[in-house]
Amino acid sequence: MGVLAGTVAVVTGGAHSLGRTFCEALAVEGADIAIADIRDGRDTAAELARRFEVRARSWQVDVSDEAAVARFAAEVGQTLGPAGILVNNAALFAELPSLPFHDFPADLWDRVMAVNVKGAFLMAKHVAPMMIDRGRGKIINIGSGTAYKGMIEMAAYVTSKAAILGLTRCLARELGRHGVNVNTLAPGLIESPSVLEHPHNLAPSEAVIRSRALQRRGVPSDLLGALVFLASPASDFVTGQTLAVDGGSITL
Ligand SMILES: NC(=O)c1ccc[n+]([C@@H]2O[C@H](COP(=O)([O-])OP(=O)(O)OC[C@H]3O[C@@H](n4cnc5c(N)ncnc54)[C@H](O)[C@@H]3O)[C@@H](O)[C@H]2O)c1
Repeated sequence: MGVLAGTVAVVTGGAHSLGRTFCEALAVEGADIAIADIRDGRDTAAELARRFEVRARSWQVDVSDEAAVARFAAEVGQTLGPAGILVNNAALFAELPSLPFHDFPADLWDRVMAVNVKGAFLMAKHVAPMMIDRGRGKIINIGSGTAYKGMIEMAAYVTSKAAILGLTRCLARELGRHGVNVNTLAPGLIESPSVLEHPHNLAPSEAVIRSRALQRRGVPSDLLGALVFLASPASDFVTGQTLAVDGGSITL
């Protein structure tokens, strides 16, 4: 039996790309899966249920909409049971234009903050009470190595991921007394399906590879050991941390 059997995992942005791979890794370990994605994730949920013999459901939710997030959290509790894992993965990322900051539209800046930062806050706000009630839980916020290094023409995105580090530290302090761990998993550039769909924005370059101690490209499966570690009892004494999974590009 997997280490996460009997646990309900909420994965935002879980219908596609890295989020979908995260759902698979948690399901392999026996977790039941609740997807919240702005896109339709019903096919992903059906495939998870079939391949991994877990319960899996998908809700079409905009994580920046508090009423929708509250409704989603309540329905997860009613249908699958209280959530024990939350992976805040949804973000505006691959589809964002690469633009000098002085050309970046202010309304798109607001939208990036609404999805990437407020969305993670709202999910934690409405999902964490189920963890507090049971005195245990794991929140994994997906950050980015870019928050440490900066990146040209991605100021809104990088700023939003720097905010995730602050959110992680604050929630870790507030939720520690309830037995809830909160950590950031910070990937380097990973050749996710979405990155490969937007090569004009995010082409993995030789310079990226040379910046790494482990000089190779990153693929989605590189993240899964860290994800399962942070979701499982193996990380019970780890909170408020950032785990960079980037081939040793940044060393924290
Ligand atoms: N791939 C990389 O190189 C890389 C590196 C560092 C961090 N990350 C982070 O990993 C996560 C996944 O990245 P990805 O490569 O799969 O790209 P992606 O852009 O496809 O991931 C975003 C996911 O969030 C969903 N989403 C977007 N807006 C939403 C909203 N308002 N409400 C709910 N869901 C919404 C999308 O449908 C998609 O499934 C993101 O948080 C990204 O910032 C990725």
